[in-house]
Amino acid sequence: MPADSSGASTVKRHPLDVRVAHWVAAVSFILLGLSGLGLFTPGLFFLTALFGGGETARWLHPWLGLALALSYLVLFIRFIGSCLWAQEDTTWMSHLSDAMSGREEKLPEIGKFNPGQKLYFWGMALLIVVLLVTGVVIWQAYFSTLTTIETQRMAVLIHSIAAVLAILGFIVHIHMVTWEPGTLRAMINGTVTGGWAWKHHRKWLRQVTGTKH
Ligand code: HEM
Repeated sequence: MPADSSGASTVKRHPLDVRVAHWVAAVSFILLGLSGLGLFTPGLFFLTALFGGGETARWLHPWLGLALALSYLVLFIRFIGSCLWAQEDTTWMSHLSDAMSGREEKLPEIGKFNPGQKLYFWGMALLIVVLLVTGVVIWQAYFSTLTTIETQRMAVLIHSIAAVLAILGFIVHIHMVTWEPGTLRAMINGTVTGGWAWKHHRKWLRQVTGTKH
């Protein structure tokens, strides 16, 4: 195994195209959240000042939504193979309290992503589809004449609920990344240490290194 500057062995985790798609998704998601919340309620309208005012925030928001959808499509294609549910995931979930308390010796060996990460992957995929479809329905500049006012009202409601769920999921995602030290570098320089992989994703480490013990 190659080593990093501190002498720790390193394992490749995410190639460049995945990392670029991930950061485009992350930046567009944050800007979408800020502009969306600014348009959502008068109490948060001040957030639109970050975009130069309400008018700019309003036209920019749907384009940012397209950037999120396209970048997530790349992530979806690249991650789906590693995010299918495996038998050990069910066992892992039944030991959730051990996982949350860091007692990883009580958990089964896990593949590239743990069940929590897989649920985030699938949850975000579903929410982004819902946000995209309802977002197009309420994109007044281009599609307002295609649907009835009642449909558009329903779409606004569903869009807002999906957005709140996505923001909550995002907060959990950030919390989990900060909670597992050594994870962030996987999305920055694309590698993790052998120790990190052994601790959190041993089944995956065995697969990539071709070792059994
Ligand atoms: C500042 C914001 C973000 C940070 C710091 C961050 C960080 C990370 C890191 C470090 C990983 C790698 C985990 C691993 O290899 O085990 C990851 C994975 C991932 N990220 Fe993010 N992320 C951010 C925003 C987002 C957003 C907005 C989305 C979705 C729209 C997203 C979707 C994903 C997905 C699907 C994965 C793979 C599965 C998982 O780890 O849950 N990320 N993220």
